[in-house]
Amino acid sequence: MTVKQVGLVGSGIMSSGVAEVVAKAGMDVALRSRTQEAVDAMVAGLEKSLAKQVEKGKLDDAASAEIRGRVRAVTDLSELSSCDLVLESVVEDITVKKQLFTDLDDVCANAKILATNTSTLSVGDIAAATKNPERVCGIHFFNPAPVMPLVEIVRAEKTGSATVSGARTFAEACGKTVVDVIDRAGFIVNSLLFPYLNNAVKALDAGLATRDDIDAAMKGGCNFPMGPLELLDLVGLDTSLSILEALHDEYQDPNYVPAPMLEQMVGDGRLGRKTGQGFYDYSK
Ligand SMILES: NC(=O)c1ccc[n+]([C@@H]2O[C@H](COP(=O)([O-])OP(=O)(O)OC[C@H]3O[C@@H](n4cnc5c(N)ncnc54)[C@H](O)[C@@H]3O)[C@@H](O)[C@H]2O)c1
Repeated sequence: MTVKQVGLVGSGIMSSGVAEVVAKAGMDVALRSRTQEAVDAMVAGLEKSLAKQVEKGKLDDAASAEIRGRVRAVTDLSELSSCDLVLESVVEDITVKKQLFTDLDDVCANAKILATNTSTLSVGDIAAATKNPERVCGIHFFNPAPVMPLVEIVRAEKTGSATVSGARTFAEACGKTVVDVIDRAGFIVNSLLFPYLNNAVKALDAGLATRDDIDAAMKGGCNFPMGPLELLDLVGLDTSLSILEALHDEYQDPNYVPAPMLEQMVGDGRLGRKTGQGFYDYSK
């Protein structure tokens, strides 16, 4: 299965990063958001990122123009009808994703793969919103997508073998290391990572140490590139809260009960880097 045209749905952190990865891998990208403003902002973000790479000598002007030329911005879902593969990265909400897959199933009759970038939701539940669950799988990129080497390919109960192998070929064409995983909340990485991140928030709240010392301890003591609180700000605290809730729903393990401080911060609109305020201040 050769993927030439990729539809990306959603205009947040993940779709923006994946758009750059896919266009750099030589595939055409249709970027879809519900509003022209949001999709224009994504394209502007991509242009800024490419310009920075040209400035640093990582890309030349011709390559940058070629990559930019592969990306078209659209607002109507029907404009994804010619795509071979569609990957959604919209808000981590099962109702929203199910509705989107019902719509994609109708609009993208020719797509070989309809994929979700969900971090924790059931791919099988999302697939059940379509008439063709065999072409639905998870293609889980990590943040920031242009930098992080891993992609988890998630096989739900009804996912077809051709879908799994096509998704693997696509992710490898994007230059990623691929792992296969069955459809359990959090897959490999987040089911192991989130108890740790959650406990870091609980430790901060309990006064175990300062924010800076918690992050410094895990970087210096475990050789992690980022501390847990910095990482939560990068992921987004709202997304992190949704991930913990989904993990708790599935496993009923108290380690996944979201730290009250995390819930409080989300309630206050402090979502991390994307809002300029999280555990750290990004507004300056
Ligand atoms: N942030 C991460 O580190 C990360 C990593 C891997 C996967 N993911 C997954 O990717 C997906 C998106 O995460 P993100 O971090 O890009 O989120 P984000 O908050 O940056 O973006 C969410 C997007 O969803 C759109 N949206 C919100 N409500 C919608 C609706 N009702 N209908 C259609 N679109 C709607 C928003 O406009 C926005 O474009 C989630 O499923 C998340 O679990 C996130």
